[in-house]
Amino acid sequence: MSARRILVTSALPYANGPIHIGHLVEYLQTDIWVRFQKLRGHECRYFCADDTHGTAIMIRAREESRREEDLIAEMQAGHEKDFAEFDIVFDNYGSTHSEENRALCGEIWQSIREAGLVKEADVEQLYDVEASTFLADRFVRGTCPKCKATDQPGDNCSVCGHHYSPAELVYPKSALSGTTPEVRSAGHLFIELEQLHEFLETWTQSGDHLQPEIANYLKGHFLGEPLRDWDISRPAPYFGFEIPDSPGNYWYVWFDAPIGYVASTRQWCDRTGENFDDWWKSSDTEIHHFIGKDITYFHTLFWPGMLKTAGYSLPTKVHIHGFLTVGGEKMSKSKGTFVNARTYLNHLDPNYLRYFYASKLSAKVDDIDLSLEEFVAKVNTDLVGKFVNLASRSAKFVGSTGLSAKYPEDDGLFAHAAQVGDEIANAYEACDTSRAMRLIMALADRANPYIEENKPWALRKEPAEAQRLQDVCTVALNLFRQLAIYLAPVLPQLAAQTGELLQEPITSWDQAKTPLTGTPVAKFQHMLRRVEEKDLHAMIEESKAELPADGDESATGASTSTSDNDGDDALAAEPLAEECTFDDFTKVDLRVARVVEAEHVPEAHKLLKLKLSLGGGVTKQVFAGIKAAYEPEQLVGRLVVCVANLAPREMRFGVSEGMVIASGPGGEEVFLLSPDDGAVPGQRVH
Ligand code: MSP
Ligand code: ZN
Repeated sequence: MSARRILVTSALPYANGPIHIGHLVEYLQTDIWVRFQKLRGHECRYFCADDTHGTAIMIRAREESRREEDLIAEMQAGHEKDFAEFDIVFDNYGSTHSEENRALCGEIWQSIREAGLVKEADVEQLYDVEASTFLADRFVRGTCPKCKATDQPGDNCSVCGHHYSPAELVYPKSALSGTTPEVRSAGHLFIELEQLHEFLETWTQSGDHLQPEIANYLKGHFLGEPLRDWDISRPAPYFGFEIPDSPGNYWYVWFDAPIGYVASTRQWCDRTGENFDDWWKSSDTEIHHFIGKDITYFHTLFWPGMLKTAGYSLPTKVHIHGFLTVGGEKMSKSKGTFVNARTYLNHLDPNYLRYFYASKLSAKVDDIDLSLEEFVAKVNTDLVGKFVNLASRSAKFVGSTGLSAKYPEDDGLFAHAAQVGDEIANAYEACDTSRAMRLIMALADRANPYIEENKPWALRKEPAEAQRLQDVCTVALNLFRQLAIYLAPVLPQLAAQTGELLQEPITSWDQAKTPLTGTPVAKFQHMLRRVEEKDLHAMIEESKAELPADGDESATGASTSTSDNDGDDALAAEPLAEECTFDDFTKVDLRVARVVEAEHVPEAHKLLKLKLSLGGGVTKQVFAGIKAAYEPEQLVGRLVVCVANLAPREMRFGVSEGMVIASGPGGEEVFLLSPDDGAVPGQRVH
């Protein structure tokens, strides 16, 4: 077997949030694959970087009144620390905001220009007047122009998959300010992807580079019609790289982000003296990208198109995984299932998650589910019960004698496991780690009865059985070591511990073919404890308590529905009040207000604490009995109507300085009133 040269990447995590257990599906999947290749003796290198540009970072830096550079440096430090503690090891971890990346973007851009793929056109883009910025796709939500699904993101529809520009959305809303953005025109630069149609058709449909379901998806959704021009510039203000030949315009974050793969490699080459062209411009080098299904389009159409045009190697394979669900549902902040890497580490051993994901991942694009019961079962039954126990039930009986000089008779157990090694390797190679884990656990199921039948703990009590005891432990420890080698890509820490126990480090897959004999055995150190359900629950509770303001569940406002079954029960339940005069009415000063903060009041069952902005820097704190009907994060950013001149009321938790107007009988049936588009905070409601 000759060594392959393999370049591997994971998607570059956005610098606008911490790493969470959803991300970890990908970084663990990739790390496992890379470790496997290295263990097999291949020249494999793993590159990644933080993805730092775009409106999200710019807006957040503004909100926190600091430089973008400081914000992204802090985020990157956090990401790198999280990865390291999960034993995810990169050969280089860069940043898209690096000089290497700027230079490469310039070079690749030049090639694309020279190939005649760039055109200029005016674009009507949505502009948020209140936040004084053009709105990036993800800051706009509205109704899909194709299937009319409501509350869709600004770039593509989560219901029908249709791609559009945010300005095409019906009823767009700015997620920054909640206002209806206005359309402004600016000159943009486009890449005419259609010129590459034939190439992309061939490349995506060749059967070699993509999973079959992905190739079909592309054929069905994009390749059947002309490919749309790709808008790759954004006018100032934008945090990114200014386009050298188009001052005042910046490359759109998705242009410079994948180039970050190359820039990270370049950094590594400069550091280690490697030849860059060997890695990105050589047909001897395989290139493997690991990504999630949400960014398929960028990696299977744009990116190969860019590489091809600029004369770089094309990806050998883009490996696409599904999304993480927890207990069968989307990760949710309010349910505490949106767990940050850091929160996980506060409560649980990273090896558990490494093994759990390994046991769930396959080469399919299906979502993978983390059920807490299954997590506990897999860790305790498989990992501790079947695997670690092999060592803990034999190592401590060998004592100072070490392993037998000759490998004893073992009913063919070792030879069988050595032979299954190829099948396990094939499963790893194909990213079918769940199959690899099943094969390994089946070997553990054969090894355990051997120990149970030969009872080293009983043999130890019979001085005449000393030789048999040593032989039995020699077999058990060798079977354990084989599994530790097969599991080394998933559980590097346990592989290292096994290396120490048996006084020979695990460095190569082929070590599983030959038993160790006649060597000393170190004192057995505890390897891995069972997972306790209470730790999982503590992690969920801590996650619930975090509830940051941004993230995947950012405020999108309540959906409106035109109801044709207006009930006639409501009026009966609450008949009209006594007549009042117009003067009576005007005593109540109703104002439009924006919810700028919303949080739970832990001691109160019904209340949420809101901070309302009336504009002009005036805010009011209000306790509202709407907890059963609204999550705090749904409320932030939306407009409400408040009673602004209500006498302040001292409550157990603080002073309530007003009231928000809502209808409904109470409990879960509370409906906040919101003004129509165009209203701004501070306006009086007459
Ligand atoms: N910055 C872009 C990628 C640029 S690559 C040139 C991005 N960043 S991300 O932080 O949102 O996501 C990073 C990776 O994590 C993506 O591949 C994404 O699919 C993956 N995941 C993010 N959330 C996930 C889950 N809940 N489940 C599984 N993978 C998820 O996209
Ligand atoms: Zn749609």
